[in-house]
Amino acid sequence: MEKFVVTGGKPLFGEVNISGAKNAAVAIIPAVILCDEPCQIENIPNISDVSLISRILQQMGANVRRINKSSLYIDPTHIKTCNATTDLVRGMRASYYLLGALLGKYGKAKVALPGGCNFGVRPIDQHLKGFEAMGARTSLVDGAIIEAECDEPLEGNHIYLDVVSVGATMNIMLAASKAQGLTIIENAAKEPHIVDLANFLNSMGADIRGAGTDVIKIRGVGYLHGVTYSIIPDQIEAGTYMCAAAATRGCITVNNITPKHLDSITAKLREMGVVITEYDESIKIDATQRPLKRCNIKTMPHPGFPTDCQPQFAALLMSVPGTSIINENVWDNRYQYVSELIRMGAQISVEGRLAIIEGGAPLTAAPVKATDLRAGAAMIIAALEVKGTTEISSIQYIERGYEDVVEKFRALGADIKKVYFTGDNEEELGA
Ligand code: EPU
Repeated sequence: MEKFVVTGGKPLFGEVNISGAKNAAVAIIPAVILCDEPCQIENIPNISDVSLISRILQQMGANVRRINKSSLYIDPTHIKTCNATTDLVRGMRASYYLLGALLGKYGKAKVALPGGCNFGVRPIDQHLKGFEAMGARTSLVDGAIIEAECDEPLEGNHIYLDVVSVGATMNIMLAASKAQGLTIIENAAKEPHIVDLANFLNSMGADIRGAGTDVIKIRGVGYLHGVTYSIIPDQIEAGTYMCAAAATRGCITVNNITPKHLDSITAKLREMGVVITEYDESIKIDATQRPLKRCNIKTMPHPGFPTDCQPQFAALLMSVPGTSIINENVWDNRYQYVSELIRMGAQISVEGRLAIIEGGAPLTAAPVKATDLRAGAAMIIAALEVKGTTEISSIQYIERGYEDVVEKFRALGADIKKVYFTGDNEEELGA
């Protein structure tokens, strides 16, 4: 069993380089299916979710090659099946993008229901509603596979999303890129990775306008040509390191970012008393200047505070004296990590969508587990705060979304290592 072993209690100092955005990469890689020529995608994060979606495309007949650590060559022109029903597909949430891409290119798709992080019900009714509005029939086969197909070419339509959904917005954009006529998505999500997917599709010759606003217009085109495209930096990875710097009362510079994408996170850290300096493509977080103040957080779709940084902020706020309240407004059940923080002495109570944090309680190291990807990031931050040695298990969740997490934290002065435990023995696994 692999674990992270973290000895905390000292501030982080130094610089960290942010990788490409996971949630852009896991949409852009399947989006290449729509292309009629090979593509090269750069600034790809080297994480297990990217390896998974790449292997899924390979299973389907695409030629996917890693050119270097952060670039992939993908030739989709030899895809031989519209079925993606293997265990690999079930293993990741974002495999639902195969539905939009395959339907958009071939008019049919059969995709196993998504797995991925486990926090509450994760419906895809809005994705299916969009496909149906464009003329596809969708059905659930054997309770585990979604089938979508159309007899005539997909036709653009007006689609109003009942909830602001990142996945549904991107999936409908994929299906609509080659559909006949105009598709209009209303109440669309506005996350930076939505704009990135639109930019990628447009660079291949698609006609998408309005991405980044709540109305997106997609006029279908017949042919998409190959491109070399570099994906945006990971807003949530950056937010995680910013949070860790504040939590350890350190001072770090986070490089290779788009500061604008981090506005909601920056605003909250400033409200807490962290000194932040923004540069063109980096940001300096200095929490050494004065004691930090409590704050409240309400997660919202972009440009609101991102739910994917909520657990990391809980880990930060538990070290700040006073009562802080988190209101989780996107997911029904994203507080499974709270019981792990409580093992470390945190005083947090959960009431429905609210988590009430009585910060400043004495904290101690304890064995904890990553209950999902961002929960795992919160465990690392908590472990860095407390004196003593914390073992974090279920780290496969963390490795789904954070490239070189051990190396990056080590470069900031953290005492963290990955260890393989076999009964009584432990063996360190590289850096
Ligand atoms: N929803 C529906 N019906 C749908 C789709 C969504 O009711 O058809 C609801 C969900 O239950 C949820 C809300 O709408 O309450 C928002 O869900 P959304 O569709 O936006 O989430 P997602 O596309 O499945 C992506 C990210 C998540 C991130 C959310 C919200 C990917 C692969 N995942 O999920 O990222 O939390 O958007 O920003 O892009 C993570 O990176 O740790 C992660 C979980």
